[in-house]
Amino acid sequence: MKLVLVEAIGAQVSRIGFGCASLGSRVGTRKGLETLERAYDAGISWYDVSPSYGDGMAESILGEFAARKRNRVYVCTKVGMRPPATPAAMRLLKPLSRVAVAALPALKRYASRVRPAPYKVPLSAELITTSVEESLRRLRTDYVDVLALHRPAVEELVREDVVRALERIVQAGKARAVSIAGDLAAGMKGLDKSLPYRLVQVANTPFEPNLETLRERASPGKSFVTYGTFACLAQLVAQLNERPEIPSALHGLGYRGHITDIAAAFLADYAFASNPGVTLFSMLHREHLDFNLQRLGNYPTREQLDSVVTALLEGARRADPMPNSPLSRKKPDVVPLRENSGERIKPRPSSRI
Ligand SMILES: NC(=O)c1ccc[n+]([C@@H]2O[C@H](COP(=O)([O-])OP(=O)(O)OC[C@H]3O[C@@H](n4cnc5c(N)ncnc54)[C@H](OP(=O)(O)O)[C@@H]3O)[C@@H](O)[C@H]2O)c1
Repeated sequence: MKLVLVEAIGAQVSRIGFGCASLGSRVGTRKGLETLERAYDAGISWYDVSPSYGDGMAESILGEFAARKRNRVYVCTKVGMRPPATPAAMRLLKPLSRVAVAALPALKRYASRVRPAPYKVPLSAELITTSVEESLRRLRTDYVDVLALHRPAVEELVREDVVRALERIVQAGKARAVSIAGDLAAGMKGLDKSLPYRLVQVANTPFEPNLETLRERASPGKSFVTYGTFACLAQLVAQLNERPEIPSALHGLGYRGHITDIAAAFLADYAFASNPGVTLFSMLHREHLDFNLQRLGNYPTREQLDSVVTALLEGARRADPMPNSPLSRKKPDVVPLRENSGERIKPRPSSRI
């Protein structure tokens, strides 16, 4: 496993991070633990979680996994989003719905649509303090490596009470560093030297290259964690089918195979080539873990990918010349990120988790 130094915590961690958003929702505790152990055996040491993930169960599952290897894994949890209040009947039906989705993958989209979504809560010093205590209890630990504000508004992350509460948590040793996990505007503000945020976590894809904007502004010592790699897989496959010059450029770079595999390989490569830090993936399927590890082993440079990225962005711009018009808002090109939906793409080859 390739490692990277995260200066904020003074540790070398795995370049691939395990995203825990679907532990407790798409899979239950037993499968979740199996999946975590598989990732750990493959050398993954960075685990990204939130109180809102997995309908509120992800932290407990991760806590059970990490209990006996706490000093060999790095845990980032968050504050600011709550799990949905799932009706009791729906909770009882969850194991049944997982079996149904495994048998009939077409149900996946429907299951994800009816599942209540996590919601944002306004940040306050009290919320931060209580949320961290509850996370530590569920994670069975007395510290997390990183505590991130989860989708904060820009005005929240600069507020004196919020900043002081975070500083107290770091001073008490309950978090080794604090971070922003939100949109580009929050990430940009989080880079301010006067603020305590040492890491920034954002979505980053060829169609939404947030990291390029952030890295231009970042001072030394900031680390970046990215996610959202496969959110645009369907969009990319559509472009490859419509514009033969792009697959042919990818062939020239050595990409081979089925068009979906080429698209997935390119997206993983783009993620690694554009972020020398940690890239998070959802990898409940073993073949996704294997595939992403294999790409990490040997990916092209960002410069080698440049001509393809430019062609893709031009294509996206031509298809949607006015990205903010009401018309284009009705038909977004990129499926919006929904953290524990896990239904943006059909895993290929399809298999049971
Ligand atoms: N605000 C935030 O900070 C924020 C927001 C979103 C996500 N996150 C974090 O990032 C993690 C990852 O989320 P994401 O949105 O970036 O998910 P992702 O890794 O893009 O995965 C999305 C889907 O792609 C599949 N996949 C994984 N590897 C693949 C491959 N090589 N080829 C084809 N499909 C593949 C996954 O399948 P399987 O899982 O079924 O294997 C999953 O269904 C989350 O779990 C969460 O920890 C943070």
